[in-house]
Amino acid sequence: MSTNGASLQQLHTFHLPVSAHRVITVTTPDELLNAWTQAKQEQQAVLLLGEGSNVLFLEDFSGTVIINRIKGINVRESDTAWHLHVGAGENWHQLVCFTLDNDLAGLENLALIPGCAGSSPIQNIGAYGIELKRVCDYVDVLNLNTGEIERLSAEQCLFGYRDSIFKHKYQDGYAIVHVGLQLSKEWVPILEYGDLKKLDAATVTPKEIFDSVCAMRRSKLPDPNITGNAGSFFKNPIVSTKELQKLVEQYPDIPHYSQNNGTEKLAAGWLIDNCSLKGFTIGGAAVHKQQALVLINQGNATSKDVISVAHHVRSEVFKRFSVLLEPEVRFVGKYGEINAVEAIS
Ligand code: FAD
Ligand code: EPU
Repeated sequence: MSTNGASLQQLHTFHLPVSAHRVITVTTPDELLNAWTQAKQEQQAVLLLGEGSNVLFLEDFSGTVIINRIKGINVRESDTAWHLHVGAGENWHQLVCFTLDNDLAGLENLALIPGCAGSSPIQNIGAYGIELKRVCDYVDVLNLNTGEIERLSAEQCLFGYRDSIFKHKYQDGYAIVHVGLQLSKEWVPILEYGDLKKLDAATVTPKEIFDSVCAMRRSKLPDPNITGNAGSFFKNPIVSTKELQKLVEQYPDIPHYSQNNGTEKLAAGWLIDNCSLKGFTIGGAAVHKQQALVLINQGNATSKDVISVAHHVRSEVFKRFSVLLEPEVRFVGKYGEINAVEAIS
């Protein structure tokens, strides 16, 4: 399906008033390749989009947006695991529900993360003690210049914290079309995070973990169908042990998580909160009152408002803690992705 001069407001979760020259929804790798080839022949910029839950549009997009809706969930059983081959356009949370409905455990900690299954490897989605890396078997990518489909093993994806090869070498000229997941039959509950610590490892079920994760998420994260947002706006910053020591001397309560490699992860939400920025507003954009790491569209925000709030948050946190925050959200300009750090500096 193709629409010319289309609004993007309902096609991304910040719900900003932006549009694209053309929007095409594709349901197969062939359709995706045709849409991309046609746009390139017309010398148009192209943007691949899943559910738009990790993007900030800075202005109207002067090109073709290709919405990936390649569907299908295939389950194969081996002696030790369940193997899922999933269309990139499947909704992630519905996939989590499908696995639990079919007694396939392992995805419950990643419940309620918005977006498509095919986007999950890009920033190695993570929550409540698990990252996609733990369950990813492979990712199938369509090389848009050759039309060939290449399979990358999980190891080849170079997963890191909110990072993978799809933000680097495989960012341009490739589209993710399928994702392979492997769920071990020897299920081990992961109960390290937040309220999950209250559950009993000996008796807990995947459904109980799912319910607890959904409850925690609903208590602090705004529902994008009601309040526009893109989840955590910034990544949690990684600092050296030495930098951490200085901060701890001044702020003994500062949360930090060892990365076991001489670095420590700080909680950006805590840093922002401790600058008293919860509820800080410019125009229609604001820092969320329940979770300072989330920037929200209060209904009438423009892209400029969101950028102004992000700029203010970043400079206040730097002034107080000498830590520079980097956006997790991907920024899209008139012709494609732009450098998010530069945009808010
Ligand atoms: P999009 O926003 O559509 O795209 C993201 C990027 O991937 C863009 O650069 C796009 O061009 C590119 N892209 C999209 N599809 C393809 C494709 N098929 N091939 C190649 N490139 C492609 N993330 C977490 O990790 N953990 C969380 O707990 C979490 N919670 C969130 C809570 C809320 C309320 C919201 C709104 C977001 C949250 N996020 C979280 C962020 C978001 O859900 C994830 O980043 C998700 O994987 C994005 O999926 P999407 O389909 O919406 O991607
Ligand atoms: N905190 C505050 N004030 C706040 C927010 C947080 O003091 O306003 C403190 C909390 O009390 C806690 C620490 O900061 O001590 C961490 O907070 P939380 O557990 O809410 O997690 P987070 O670091 O803010 C990360 C991910 C989320 C993910 C949750 C749960 C990043 C950038 N964000 O948030 O992912 O859902 O952990 O695992 O890593 C996303 O990426 O979009 C996202 C929502």
